[in-house]
Amino acid sequence: MNRRRQIYEGKAKILYEGPEPGTLIQYFKDDATAFNAQKKGTINGKGVINNRISEFVFTRLSHIGIPTHFIRRLNMREQLVRQVDIIPLEVVVRNVAAGSISKRLGIEEGEPLPHTLLEYYYKDDALGDPLIAEEHIACFGWASNEEMQDMSSMAIRINDFLCGMFAAVGIRLVDFKLEFGRLWDGDYSRVILADEISPDGCRLWDMATGEKLDKDRFRRDLGGEEDAYTEVARRLGVLQDDG
Ligand code: C5P
Repeated sequence: MNRRRQIYEGKAKILYEGPEPGTLIQYFKDDATAFNAQKKGTINGKGVINNRISEFVFTRLSHIGIPTHFIRRLNMREQLVRQVDIIPLEVVVRNVAAGSISKRLGIEEGEPLPHTLLEYYYKDDALGDPLIAEEHIACFGWASNEEMQDMSSMAIRINDFLCGMFAAVGIRLVDFKLEFGRLWDGDYSRVILADEISPDGCRLWDMATGEKLDKDRFRRDLGGEEDAYTEVARRLGVLQDDG
């Protein structure tokens, strides 16, 4: 039985108290939700694959100087991470129109955007994570100007790196969501990348066929979710060793 203290349970992950102060264990579930949890299901083996993909991506990002909460993967479904105060924003990076921006602004899915777009959503399940402007963030004090600078510059660097990383394995990075947290050191904090980067929070299209290799397969009842996630992991080369 698992006797560790549970800190938080989200839609796709659980956070447990970590072995040392300032650490948490991030457990990846197979549960999948969409449309603010109105649609629920499971994708068999998703937690195992996302744990691996997120480990791979966060490790690569740390190599290019992005500070992240990731410390190390512990086992098939768990990783050790630094404890942060999550900033209540979802930072969405878009290269190509798809999903909510297509619906909201009537832009055809697949239309490349004139330039990379950053959007901010207020993280609040009860409100359905509404799209907000930077003015709202400043007005309500959800993040400081300096934190906004840090998050936006990291988001652009992450996008540049990930576009290349996925393109190298024949995948187009259409859009993705990031979450950041405050890492405290006494009275001071700095912003680091938190949460996960996986096909749950990215749109990944096969460059040759346009096939969707991400959670839209679940959201849109396309089927083949397991195969799609496994294909992303296989192309990134993260399913080779055990443990
Ligand atoms: O739905 P929308 O088009 O706004 O999503 C943009 C990107 O952000 C998609 O890659 C989606 O997977 C991700 N996202 C997410 N979690 C949310 C909202 C969006 O991972 N709550």
